[in-house]
Amino acid sequence: MSSVGPRLSARSLLGLVGELDPARPVYEALADRVRLLVMDGRIPVGTRLPSERELAAQAGRSRTTIVASYQALRDAGYLISQQGSGSRVVLPEAEKSVSTDLRTIDFARAVPPPVEGLRDVFAQVGDRMVDALDGPGFDLLGSLGLRSAIAERYTDRGLPTTPDQIMVTMGGQHAISLIAHTFLMRADVALIEAPTYPHAYDALKRAGARLVTTPVTTEGWDIEHLIDLLATARPAVAYIVPDFQNPTGSSMPPDFRVKVVEAARRSGTLLVIDETTADLNIDRKWDDGPFARHARRRSPSDGSGVITVGSMSKSIWGGLRLGWIRADTAVIRRLAQARPAGDLGTPQMEQLLGEQIVRAMPELLQRRRELLTEHRAVLTRLLRQHLPQWTVPFPDGGLSLWVQLDEPASSALTSLCEARGLALVAGPKFSIDGAFERYIRLPFTSPVADLEQGVLMLTDAWEQLTAPRATRAGLSRMPAMV
Ligand SMILES: Cc1ncc(COP(=O)(O)O)c(C=O)c1O
Repeated sequence: MSSVGPRLSARSLLGLVGELDPARPVYEALADRVRLLVMDGRIPVGTRLPSERELAAQAGRSRTTIVASYQALRDAGYLISQQGSGSRVVLPEAEKSVSTDLRTIDFARAVPPPVEGLRDVFAQVGDRMVDALDGPGFDLLGSLGLRSAIAERYTDRGLPTTPDQIMVTMGGQHAISLIAHTFLMRADVALIEAPTYPHAYDALKRAGARLVTTPVTTEGWDIEHLIDLLATARPAVAYIVPDFQNPTGSSMPPDFRVKVVEAARRSGTLLVIDETTADLNIDRKWDDGPFARHARRRSPSDGSGVITVGSMSKSIWGGLRLGWIRADTAVIRRLAQARPAGDLGTPQMEQLLGEQIVRAMPELLQRRRELLTEHRAVLTRLLRQHLPQWTVPFPDGGLSLWVQLDEPASSALTSLCEARGLALVAGPKFSIDGAFERYIRLPFTSPVADLEQGVLMLTDAWEQLTAPRATRAGLSRMPAMV
């Protein structure tokens, strides 16, 4: 085994592990937490753990305890240790194959089916698809047709926009990553919400940012905290999802938006406003239009300080991989210069479809709303019926419920469900510091039959997890430790 590979310091490991269950032997509780972190992907397979001596010193525990803990992990197949190269986390063979022979119900990804009516749009584009053969087939900024359609939609929604303020990307994630790599320097501070969409903070971290967090709940933002953090941390970038935030479903009220824009202007922070979920209104009574409406430039030389990200993945269909960036022209030019280092442009075939889709947006969004209305009703009803001890919100938009559990056991629930064929993402995945063990995100995007079966599986798993200790005695041994 080579000794090359990521290494986790004792401090970082303890940060991920968090509080241990005081009712259990320390060695066992520690091994169990590490196992869940590996299963959850928060300690990547192949990572070297700190030496037993180093971890014992940092944790203030005896070396015997840590040795026993590592041994328990080795016995369960989660750790391989070799003289001279340390201990490396692995997945046991049984875990690797567990879900391959089961049909997995997917409560992990908030991916809705293609919107009703999309087939008709495809049919309308029909023969025009061959037009894509006449050009190079891809482009860096996006086709003028699609950029014009997107710009017009912004203008109609109250934010005057020209095509040269738009860059078409391959989805929202691509846009976030390109922005992060273009506008962040190593060790810059970036502000994110907690909880937030995990791949966004991955992109910011990968671009070298140091992250600071501001809380969001199903009740919304702590605006004082957010404004204070902008003033004190003076982040280079603040990444905010103001409409139907993932995962809480909250929307930022218009007066908060004004305050955020003003505070960001004072701290010199670039606001990256992710509106990927903004078109997922189910029954929110108000629409404030695009966030950037509040940040018009004051003079030609004064940038707006806002970059907006949009995408068709959630509102229309993820398979299109079409997103965009709306920003000042100078910002778009900078992004265009930086982009070829990562990719050479968006396919024109998709863009032909995209243009037609933007023009059909009002009808398509109505169809999306009908599906989400029904699915939200099914999932909330089932959860309230079968798991009344959980706090189940009723968001007015978005794709998922940020559910509060009655015990902090989100990771344990996730791994128990995974072994039974229900894929989940544990609450801590939505933060950078292992918080949110008391939460789970449950998307209502799956077919109704899967929502029904998934809730039964959740109920069964939760009963097993929270049964009195005596009845789950057999569970307290790995690998089914909870
Ligand atoms: C807030 C947010 N932004 C961006 C994305 C990524 O979007 P895309 O699939 O268009 O890359 C997601 C996907 O879940 C999301 O929730």
